Amino acid sequence: MMNTQFELQDNGVIVPLSNGPKYFNYYWLRDASNTSIDPQTRERIFDVSQLPTAPKATDLSIKDDVLTINWDAEDTPSEVPISLLESVATTGRAEDVAAIPRKVWYNGHLPNIPRIPQAEVINTAAGRAKLTRALIEDGIAIVSDMEPTEESLPNLVKAIGPVTPSGEGLFFNVRVEIEPTNLAFTAGPLEMHTDLPGEEAAPGVQFLHCLENTVDGGLSLFLDGVAVAMALKEEDPDAFEMLAAHKIPFFYRHDKIDYRSHQRVIETDQDGNVTGVTISQHLQDNMDLPQDLLDRYYPAFIKFIRMMQEDRFLLKFKSEAGNCVVFDNHRIVHGREGYVADSGSRHLRGCYTDRAAMRSTYRIASKSA
Ligand SMILES: [Fe+2]
Repeated sequence: MMNTQFELQDNGVIVPLSNGPKYFNYYWLRDASNTSIDPQTRERIFDVSQLPTAPKATDLSIKDDVLTINWDAEDTPSEVPISLLESVATTGRAEDVAAIPRKVWYNGHLPNIPRIPQAEVINTAAGRAKLTRALIEDGIAIVSDMEPTEESLPNLVKAIGPVTPSGEGLFFNVRVEIEPTNLAFTAGPLEMHTDLPGEEAAPGVQFLHCLENTVDGGLSLFLDGVAVAMALKEEDPDAFEMLAAHKIPFFYRHDKIDYRSHQRVIETDQDGNVTGVTISQHLQDNMDLPQDLLDRYYPAFIKFIRMMQEDRFLLKFKSEAGNCVVFDNHRIVHGREGYVADSGSRHLRGCYTDRAAMRSTYRIASKSA
């Protein structure tokens, strides 16, 4: 392609692409050049702040899906893959295999939850790809046939990402305790919540390994917080806006811990799409929004909490020994029905990893799966 097809401007150039002409800034093109990345470390070795003058193209050409740019103040031309330009022109970003759209789900989702045996996750890329893809799309999956050992949960998590510590350490146990520090450690019902909203950034992916469950009752409850938030947006846009716009305080405290943090109940991205939810009435502090704003905030908040109790969203099942439920802690809201403490034993072991680590595992595993 000859220079005539490019429209050179002061700060950038219009490049002809398959979807039509698209403007690219010269700094961006210089920064995106193949020569900016070290082929061995794959890290950026070009420092845009070291350019003595603003980059300016003198001529451009396209050959074999590569855009070559000659600069007026540099001897070496830059090469930028056309595939990158096409992707940025279409989505605003480089291509990402992990950028899979969420699939919202409702109360009938139980038979569709992917179940992957633990050995498959640990030993095969296909197993890891299947689990992490489910976590990106549905936000929930079940790892079955867990080895009934102490090392079983750490071995599973390691296959997906490093364990994210919480205020309580690396691993926690959910069972009846004599002096509970958390409602989870009693036999009472546990209302719908996401974990650890009092931390600056709540852990992204939660694992709950059921080691034993012979009690009467104690059904596990899960719902897709994105589905509820989208339904609220549809049914009461003002209430949705309230919960998406304002942060409220959460805490986590006992004798040796006093975490405090503010979170939005509904998280949205720059386009207004719901990306997650944060909810936990038992770890919610006294609201500190202006009192007159609370006149409108509380009704919206209550509406959202009541919606989360509606059957259309709720998934109920009994946690079975040998299964590990894995879910996105910024999206999937979970709880538990009460149970009869002396009717048997119930013991879950849990921990967290990071969502970025989980997506990284998907990118790598899906390549070789
Ligand atoms: Fe929890």
